Amino acid sequence: MRKKIVAGNWKMNKLQNEAKKLVNQVVALLQNSNLSDNKRVIFSPPSIYLEGVSLITNKEAFIHSCSQNIYSENSGAYTGELSAEMIKSVGCEYTLVGHSERRALFYETDIILAKKVSSALMQGVTPIFCCGELLAERNSKKHYDIIKAQIEGGLFHLTEDEFSNIIIAYEPVWAIGTGKTASSNQAQEMHAFIRGLVTAKYGNITSDNLTILYGGSCNPANAAELFSCPDVDGGLIGGASLVAEDFVKIIAAL
Ligand code: 13P
Repeated sequence: MRKKIVAGNWKMNKLQNEAKKLVNQVVALLQNSNLSDNKRVIFSPPSIYLEGVSLITNKEAFIHSCSQNIYSENSGAYTGELSAEMIKSVGCEYTLVGHSERRALFYETDIILAKKVSSALMQGVTPIFCCGELLAERNSKKHYDIIKAQIEGGLFHLTEDEFSNIIIAYEPVWAIGTGKTASSNQAQEMHAFIRGLVTAKYGNITSDNLTILYGGSCNPANAAELFSCPDVDGGLIGGASLVAEDFVKIIAAL
């Protein structure tokens, strides 16, 4: 059955004491919540805090930690990088791959991302694969082509078995950090399109089980409407995941 997930991507925010406080606050606020194997919460802190956050989340049945990035190799002369095997060794089970900030600021291409996805899966780490179009691409009606190319380029080398361990996050770049969220119609249309691509490639069972998150200015006021769309299975939250009460309100909208 398809999982519903709210994941918080902290990006490059919070100092160590603030990070610990935020996770502890959210976990405390979630003590009487309706989380279950089917409804999960994920924290994606800066990697320096991953071990500390994992120590807290691993005591909770339905709360997990997530790296914001990995490199595609397991070890070696790759100064500054960290591998799927390393994040796994500190208790982390998920990683973001291909966030638009990594694509734009760190020049990550589909070929690089496809290797990262495979490396994560090889180590039993679940990739949350991000895709999204620029405003100019949407305005020129190329948004479906862009998303199709990103999904095919980053994911369609996988076998059906491998693909069954993927989570996708649709994050229109024009909605990230802008306060300009996609309408629920825009989100639903794109999520249905993505699910259709997956059905065509891997069949109904795989696409039915695929979790597709929405990201981009998702907040306590708009989360319930977005999450009520049939193909929106939760959210990848940036700014609003940095405030415990806001993040918990978004989780409550699952
Ligand atoms: P905001 O929620 O701040 O728009 O960020 C979304 C995002 O990029 C999550 O990965």
